[in-house]
Amino acid sequence: MSSFQRLLPHKQEEEPCNKDKIELKMIIGRYPSVKQVTDTQRISMVKEIFSTITGKYDFLNHFLSLWQDVIWRRFAVNKMRFFKTFRFLDVATGTSDLAIQAALRHKNIRVTGLDFVQEMLVLGKKKVKRKNLSKRIRMLNGDALNIPFPPDSFDVSGIAFGIRNIPDKIDALKEMTRVVVPGGQVMVIEMSFPGTPFFRRIYYIYLKVILPSLARVFSPNPDAYHYLGDSIMNFPSASDFAHKMELAGLVDVKYYPLTLGVTYLYIGYKNDS
Ligand SMILES: C[S@@+](CC[C@H](N)C(=O)[O-])C[C@H]1O[C@@H](n2cnc3c(N)ncnc32)[C@H](O)[C@@H]1O
Repeated sequence: MSSFQRLLPHKQEEEPCNKDKIELKMIIGRYPSVKQVTDTQRISMVKEIFSTITGKYDFLNHFLSLWQDVIWRRFAVNKMRFFKTFRFLDVATGTSDLAIQAALRHKNIRVTGLDFVQEMLVLGKKKVKRKNLSKRIRMLNGDALNIPFPPDSFDVSGIAFGIRNIPDKIDALKEMTRVVVPGGQVMVIEMSFPGTPFFRRIYYIYLKVILPSLARVFSPNPDAYHYLGDSIMNFPSASDFAHKMELAGLVDVKYYPLTLGVTYLYIGYKNDS
């Protein structure tokens, strides 16, 4: 029994009385649907997942997205603007891919990668060292909901495929806004369930059948990929998420669909008036 399962009351094993058919099917794995757990349980679940899939995380990320994830991060770093602190904060940095791409693209910046799963940070640090970027990128253990920096410390804060895992998205966005300078950017790259019915059906099959089957072959914790599908299906639509960014205090929020809308890049600015 995993540490996360021990946290759950037995009731979590029962089928939910919920409307959503998708959700009913999700219960077969080790992790219940994100809709069925409390925020605290979800955070434990996320910590367990990312500490158990670390070894194969990068490979599966690239393989399952057909290397699109590299293109999505590149699209985001090309839109970053550095003008005052020349510092970038990569929240939920994981194995540091966004931090590394930003440092390679913007040679005059320093980068901090923040994550609360030590196993991911260890792998991230190794990659930073291999790329000879240790002097410009530092990796810190910390929580997106309590970013250990004073206000106005960075020109840009970003989060790639991390916000989906944070129950209180607005609070995380507020923290990311707090630490950027007025006029600074907050960027979010996140996967989404496509809006068009035809593509939705195809993507549903991908998330429910293909992804878990591939994960069973390649991942040390295949159930984590049930969670992945479930968390994508339960993520807000692009317009709803953009509204959350506004609620967090960001202005001029824009979003860009990537690869037929399976992922979006969101950019908002900290008010400078
Ligand atoms: C899907 S991975 C994304 C990693 C990386 N940003 C990338 O582009 O591949 C999600 C990461 O978010 C981290 N995470 C989730 N919630 C967090 C929080 N509240 N504070 C810090 N890190 C968090 C997890 O530990 C995990 O490493």
